[in-house]
Amino acid sequence: MHARPTSRLILLALASVLAEAAYLSGCAAAPPKPELQKDRLGLFPVEAQDPRAAKCATCHAAIAEQWSGSYHAKAWRDPLFRVSTQNRQQAECLPCHAPQPVLDRPFGAPPELRPGFRDDGVSCLTCHDVGAGDCPRGLPGPRREELRKRLADPQSCASCHNTTHWALDEWNAWSGSKGPNRTGCIDCHMPTKTIIPWEGAEPRLVRSHAFPSWQSPAFVMGSLDCSADVNGTQLTLTMKNLVGHKFPGEVPTRKLIVIVQGEGGPDQDPLDQREEYCRPPKNGPVGIPDTRLKPDEKRQLNTPLPPGILRVEVRVLFQAIPLTPEDECLCLFRRAFTKDPATGTWTPLADRPISGRKP
Ligand code: HEC
Ligand code: HEC
Ligand code: HEC
Ligand code: HEC
Ligand code: HEC
Repeated sequence: MHARPTSRLILLALASVLAEAAYLSGCAAAPPKPELQKDRLGLFPVEAQDPRAAKCATCHAAIAEQWSGSYHAKAWRDPLFRVSTQNRQQAECLPCHAPQPVLDRPFGAPPELRPGFRDDGVSCLTCHDVGAGDCPRGLPGPRREELRKRLADPQSCASCHNTTHWALDEWNAWSGSKGPNRTGCIDCHMPTKTIIPWEGAEPRLVRSHAFPSWQSPAFVMGSLDCSADVNGTQLTLTMKNLVGHKFPGEVPTRKLIVIVQGEGGPDQDPLDQREEYCRPPKNGPVGIPDTRLKPDEKRQLNTPLPPGILRVEVRVLFQAIPLTPEDECLCLFRRAFTKDPATGTWTPLADRPISGRKP
């Protein structure tokens, strides 16, 4: 925790007491609260800015628990964020990592920085609030319908996921995003799970607020459609991106690694090739190309095989964290082939690694 001036702490404590009181009184009475007006600086009154998930957790325990493990919850406390902003000194970096509500702003408009309670990062009210500072259950039915539709639209993710990273534009350009069965961001990143959505309700399928992505092997496994073949003189690997935005995602340390290894008789030098695909670092040297797979892109890699090579294996790995050893990276695809030295024909092996490496 970083030190704050005492006066600010007192103010914050006072604000939270006020907010709690305002919230509790609003909770007991059935009539909907009047829409809160923004002040002359365009900010909501302090009680509407209190985004603490703890307020919502009293009734939405299961959702709050999922959220608390997500990167949205950690956006302000994230050590990487702190390091890369000189401990949050870089003003232009702060708004999306502790944002004011975005739903009442024009779709895609970047958020404003929240004046307080920043530790909660991208909190419940960032996404769900339209000025009432409270649970939307008090709103009239049609208004609630409208809000839900707005929330489920990929544009609602755009205020933060498109200004520095272009996931939404990429998704809009994706062929899979057109047609009657269009998939939105939440169809992948908020998979449904059976939980109790609020106190007193029956368990049912609810969209997950854990917002899984690169951390979840099961989630990443289906990202690419891969196949491999050997035609005598070369190995061909085909990879198709099924994700709808670039793969890997926008964080430059995520890498897609393709490794081709082969071996033959004692006189044959082993084959060991390695290609990495990633986004160039933001503040790194200029001119480094972005080598990631674009949405829908089908990429073919050909590796010539010297005649003495008798076994070859190709692996497609997803390295989420830098320096993770190859054997610990998520293996998206692996295929091995052997050559009959007499006939020169190649046969695919059952999913078996080549010798000398642990499976
Ligand atoms: C006192 C219990 C309680 C608290 C506290 C509470 N909620 Fe709710 N919430 C409910 C109930 C009950 C429903 C379902 C109401 C219904 O469908 O009639 C609900 C529904 C919702 C919905 C779904 C609305 C819809 O359109 O279907 C959202 C979103 C929501 N709450 C968010 C929040 C947020 C954000 C907070 C914290 C600021 C919060 N809630 C605090 C009880 C609560
Ligand atoms: C327009 C909104 C926005 C602004 C402004 C913004 N970020 Fe982010 N930041 C995001 C989003 C969205 C993600 C998640 C992106 C992803 O994972 O693809 C993110 C992720 C990050 C991460 C990755 C955290 C991790 O654990 O992998 C770091 C570090 C980060 N931002 C630092 C910064 C810095 C430094 C700045 C200022 C130069 C900045 N951000 C400005 C929206 C923003
Ligand atoms: C990044 C944005 C975001 C954040 C942060 C967020 N939500 Fe949601 N929430 C959504 C979306 C999107 C939906 C699904 C809308 C739909 O499909 O109807 C949703 C749905 C809900 C629902 C309705 C579930 C149902 O099936 O009826 C509740 C209740 C809810 N959220 C509560 C919360 C609470 C409590 C928090 C904080 C602990 C929170 N949300 C944080 C985006 C968010
Ligand atoms: C108000 C800003 C904001 C909005 C709106 C928002 N996000 Fe985020 N999101 C962030 C930030 C900031 C991070 C990165 C937090 C970090 O790692 O420090 C993030 C992280 C994520 C991550 C995790 C990325 C990772 O590296 O694991 C996913 C997935 C995600 N968001 C999906 C969504 C989806 C889907 C929506 C729309 C329903 C959405 N977000 C709406 C700001 C936002
Ligand atoms: C078809 C499924 C799918 C759809 C649709 C989808 N994503 Fe993803 N997304 C993935 C997969 C798989 C990953 C993991 C790969 C990775 O992290 O590089 C991912 C990763 C991410 C990440 C984390 C990137 C990183 O490396 O930290 C963010 C943020 C994200 N997606 C946001 C979005 C947003 C915003 C949308 C809507 C515009 C969206 N996604 C639509 C499947 C999807």
